Amino acid sequence: MSLYKRSHICIEKHAERRVRETQRERKMRSNQVRLNCGITMPVIGLGTYSFQNDRKTTELAVHMALKMGYRHFDTAKIYGSEPALGNALTEAMHDGKVEREDIFVTSKLWGSDHHDPVAGLKQTLKNMGMEYLDMYLVHWPVKLKPWACNPIPDEDEFEPLDLETTWSGMQKCLDLGFCRCIGVSNFSTKKIEQLLDFASVPPAVNQVEMHPLWRQRKLRDFCRDHNIHVSAYSPLGGPGNSWGSTLVVNNPIIRAIANKRKATPAQVALRWGLSKGSSMIVKSFSPERIKENFGAIDLKLDGQDFMEIDKLEERKIMRGEFLVNETTSPYKTIQDLWDDEI
Ligand SMILES: NC(=O)c1ccc[n+]([C@@H]2O[C@H](COP(=O)([O-])OP(=O)(O)OC[C@H]3O[C@@H](n4cnc5c(N)ncnc54)[C@H](OP(=O)(O)O)[C@@H]3O)[C@@H](O)[C@H]2O)c1
Repeated sequence: MSLYKRSHICIEKHAERRVRETQRERKMRSNQVRLNCGITMPVIGLGTYSFQNDRKTTELAVHMALKMGYRHFDTAKIYGSEPALGNALTEAMHDGKVEREDIFVTSKLWGSDHHDPVAGLKQTLKNMGMEYLDMYLVHWPVKLKPWACNPIPDEDEFEPLDLETTWSGMQKCLDLGFCRCIGVSNFSTKKIEQLLDFASVPPAVNQVEMHPLWRQRKLRDFCRDHNIHVSAYSPLGGPGNSWGSTLVVNNPIIRAIANKRKATPAQVALRWGLSKGSSMIVKSFSPERIKENFGAIDLKLDGQDFMEIDKLEERKIMRGEFLVNETTSPYKTIQDLWDDEI
């Protein structure tokens, strides 16, 4: 082959690669939501909660997800996955695979840090080896003693919730530039309403359980009216988690829709949530399922599919029993915790 022809083929291949890259970049940009704090967030995020909490497995999953197009990552101090996530992202940035501006990182304030959210966030940043987070969320409307460090608090570790002081600390995190946005998680409409009464900065996000069996209609309507984005955790119902369930991925209607659409039940569940305008925080550490879940973006459901899902009996899976007790918790019953929105 002549040198001319060879270099011509090389140029063509390069051009094809650029077109493919540009298409991928455009697609990535379009799969974003704009938040009330002015920044955008990719609609599919990789969750990193795992009971085993194996650092190497988490790092490999994050690298795999980056390769497959994920740019949004979710962690929390209480998951123990901050170091692994931070390390994998730092490595990827160091290797030039991704820029800091192109990724979106969320972590969460645990109950024991309500006393001092700035100190809590500083510890998170140290754990992750990062200078700032994109999103910092109040993990639960629950305040604990400063030494409480277990996911399931002891009865003597609860304190009365003082949301005004906690939120003022969250706003300080923002002022100091340690995060670009602040939000909440596991908040009912009633608690958000209370928060909005005194907040100088409204929450940008409420991250809650949401999937075809827990559709969050009331909360989504309320949040839409107040320009607060609803982000879905456990969008597959958390199969494999100690508290999770296979009810969503094994649901006969979800499975039938998946069959009809030549998709998987997980993709149907995720596409349903995306179609409601929510972002999906989905955890998988398996390469096949990381890819499968991202594929939900390309799935199309029709009106009939949505109608069938709307008829499914609702069932909340993460009920938060571990935050309820009759003596020390401000929540004496599950209904108290969710303000009867359960
Ligand atoms: N704010 C909060 O209070 C809160 C609460 C819970 C969770 N979260 C966040 O949300 C993330 C996701 O929630 P989650 O982990 O509870 O539940 P999830 O994403 O609904 O489900 C994760 C489970 O499903 C499996 N899985 C993943 N993809 C699958 C697929 N395509 N088909 C079948 N099974 C699949 C995973 O196993 P493999 O890894 O083996 O694939 C894992 O066991 C968490 O990791 C965490 O970051 C936040």
